[in-house]
Amino acid sequence: MERLDKIIANTSTFSRKEVHRMIKSGTVRVNGITVKDRGFYIDTESDTVSINGEDLVLEKYIYIMLNKPEGVVSAARDDKEKTVIDLVPPEFKKKNLFPAGRLDRNTTGFVLITDNGDFAHKILSPKNHIDKTYEARLEHSISSSELEMIENGITLGDGTKCLPAKLCVLEDGETPLIQVIIHEGKYHQIKRMFAAAGNAVTQLKRTKMGGLELDKTLLPGKCRILTKEEVLLISSE
Ligand code: URA
Repeated sequence: MERLDKIIANTSTFSRKEVHRMIKSGTVRVNGITVKDRGFYIDTESDTVSINGEDLVLEKYIYIMLNKPEGVVSAARDDKEKTVIDLVPPEFKKKNLFPAGRLDRNTTGFVLITDNGDFAHKILSPKNHIDKTYEARLEHSISSSELEMIENGITLGDGTKCLPAKLCVLEDGETPLIQVIIHEGKYHQIKRMFAAAGNAVTQLKRTKMGGLELDKTLLPGKCRILTKEEVLLISSE
């Protein structure tokens, strides 16, 4: 059981003062009934809380899947540019949301947004071997020996050695589409891996994190909250 004012402040972007004002003004409902007592106790497992008719998510942590469009930066905040957090709708907004791992400005696809730092660390640390799956469109055709260089762990232009990557040719030809699976996240890693093999990536999309695929029904720029089962899928495989 938790106090109504505390749980709203902890699971939203509102300050404790704002929460008190909202409760007093009658915009907060518990199980559909207006509650004006800020010290009211609720059961976060079974009760629902809404503000102006929008249900609050009462879990301790939140995990959001975003289909990142091009032109948006993977940062919690930026003075000039639109960030992935700006794309999160107000009803999902909580304090301390951040993207777990960065995609380049022109990379699209699956970004996990959360407020759980431990979980982010767990899925990003290379030693935990959580696969990140991408689809890379290349500028030129690619030979099997160039693919092998990347599969065996290619050395980047600055001498950094990459771990072996898993590759699968999804579309062959002049501008092939390659599925790339890596579990580390060096700066511009995939673009630099193909550059080291004498090619260039013209489009890049992240399609999967761990065992969880990007929801194909999510349009670019849209996001949704993950279920507990989906969150578990990210950290498994
Ligand atoms: N590798 C890249 O080069 N860019 C990304 O955004 C992600 C992986």
